[in-house]
Amino acid sequence: MRLPHRRRALAAPTPLYPSGAPAGNAAGRRNRVTTARVWPLLAPMRVLGIETSCDETAAAVVEDGRVRASRVRSQVRDHAPFGGVVPELASRRHVEALPGLLAEALREAGLAWSDLDLIAVTAGPGLAGALLVGVGAAQALHAATGLPLAAVHHLQGHLHSVFLGPDAPDPMRVYPMLVLLVSGGHTGLVRVAAPGRQAWIGRTLDDAAGEALDKGATLLGLGYPGGPAIERAARGGDPARHAFPRGRIAGSEAPTGGLDPELCLSFSGLKTALRYYLRDHPEARGGTALRDTAAAYQEAVIDALCARVGAALGRERYAALAGVGGVARNGRLRSRLGEIAATAGIPLLLAAPDWCTDNAAMIAAAAGAGLGRPVPDPAALDVRPNWPL
Ligand code: KG4
Ligand code: ZN
Repeated sequence: MRLPHRRRALAAPTPLYPSGAPAGNAAGRRNRVTTARVWPLLAPMRVLGIETSCDETAAAVVEDGRVRASRVRSQVRDHAPFGGVVPELASRRHVEALPGLLAEALREAGLAWSDLDLIAVTAGPGLAGALLVGVGAAQALHAATGLPLAAVHHLQGHLHSVFLGPDAPDPMRVYPMLVLLVSGGHTGLVRVAAPGRQAWIGRTLDDAAGEALDKGATLLGLGYPGGPAIERAARGGDPARHAFPRGRIAGSEAPTGGLDPELCLSFSGLKTALRYYLRDHPEARGGTALRDTAAAYQEAVIDALCARVGAALGRERYAALAGVGGVARNGRLRSRLGEIAATAGIPLLLAAPDWCTDNAAMIAAAAGAGLGRPVPDPAALDVRPNWPL
């Protein structure tokens, strides 16, 4: 790793940007604007992103909102034998993979450390030990290069993922935006009033959609991760063969934390229903019947999500509907959201498949758009495993 600014970084205390504009990167480029609020929109920004919150190790370089390089090393194969993510193993794999991915991302972008303006790192939510690897790396890189740090909320990265890529929508025309955020750890509806101003309006009360698919796939013997496995197994299947529960919680006593019960959902009954169905219909695990079972289970998850999206669109006029997170890779969900948006007469913003699952490009881009938290004292930066959105 070439560290051209070491001397400079060690000789002078690193200038940080929360009290004003960044004082220029280590190469001496100076930003022209002077307020912390507007500079991210105006100053050219080359951001190195680091993401290690769960089971993908990722590094990326984003310049002015465009991805110059993105490297992701999935740990799926490491965790598959255990049917889910093993936290200690995830941390170890991050330690092994991250240095190489950082070097590759810079090489792919054709940049040196001295060309960068900012290091953006996921500080939460996620697995504490896994987050520590990324944050520790960011701290070390700050010490070595003098680059400022921004701490990024993992879900802020997902929310921003619809703005990556050449066909990015005009951010001035999409708010208020309704986002279906569906990942392995989080699931719900987020109302985004403006960049960085968002709130959950509906949520799952137990499992995330990805978790429901992962658990269903395990019961069906389809392996891990379950989302793509169920999607593959469901191809050509008849989703109407069996009606699994649609995650309703409205009318129940379940506490929703003040959220509209019609916009909340529960997946815990779904996997129980699958377990009993398989007990009573052992033939549903194999052959062509498996196709139907997988299709019916996937449809129940998607229907549950789409019903909440429809209800939210009935509550308020949104300028756009968006779908982000690992489960938004699902082809059936993407087409169902397309139908919903068309009916509502609003644009649908779907994160490109590569940006649905965890990646560092969305983290770097979010920070470049001013959606990260400046870190005035990088040495004191801590992880926030339960960081609320
Ligand atoms: O966003 P993500 O990469 O990680 C988290 O932040 O959790 O999401 C991972 C989840 C897993 O549960 C996986 O099963 C699901 O996304 N997933 C899918 C598909 N690809 C990944 N679910 C449904 N269909 C897919 N094609
Ligand atoms: Zn994620």
